[in-house]
Amino acid sequence: MFRDRLKWNEKYRRGNYPAEPSDIVKDYVGLSCGLTVLDIAAGSGRNALFLAQRGFTVDAVDISDEALAMLAGRHRSVRAICADLDIFDIPAERYDLIINILFLNRRLFPQILEGLKPGGLLIFETLLEPLGRSDERSERCRDYFLRANELLHSFLSLRILHYHEGPENDRDSTRRLASLVGLKNS
Ligand SMILES: C[S@@+](CC[C@H](N)C(=O)[O-])C[C@H]1O[C@@H](n2cnc3c(N)ncnc32)[C@H](O)[C@@H]1O
Repeated sequence: MFRDRLKWNEKYRRGNYPAEPSDIVKDYVGLSCGLTVLDIAAGSGRNALFLAQRGFTVDAVDISDEALAMLAGRHRSVRAICADLDIFDIPAERYDLIINILFLNRRLFPQILEGLKPGGLLIFETLLEPLGRSDERSERCRDYFLRANELLHSFLSLRILHYHEGPENDRDSTRRLASLVGLKNS
């Protein structure tokens, strides 16, 4: 945990983070039928702030105290929670909306499903394993990247409203993303 915190603090200190909210959050937040949000690995809070400014109450969880310090005090409806998501547990049926952007921790998948209230919305987007490098794939790589169709299969108990796998929508990027939006049955 301590090493992860140092690594991410260092990244944030270098100013190496996006400030604009994610397109998928902007595009689908209107489908949430309530106002309580969990932002998993919120970073410096670009999405948490965007949501708070639209009337949501956000629990923003991240391991980087320096990223959360950038967020602290910027909106009274954001609660910054400095925690290691390797051990943090999501409370059951607490949230109308859960967002998980550019972060992967498979241990949390069942907890995300449990953590949504009935009728709750999940917005999940993170990196897919790079194409054509199967011989080089290591277990460590697997920790950071989704496999093809993995996100879809992991959340099939939701009503899937949107699913896409493909290149990041940024001309300078070679990264590929998997994106999912789903609703829990009410
Ligand atoms: C690529 S950033 C994405 C941040 C944010 N979701 C966004 O889209 O701007 C990944 C985030 O995961 C956090 N993180 C990495 N490992 C973590 C862990 N074990 N527990 C909690 N947060 C973690 C990092 O501090 C970092 O803020």
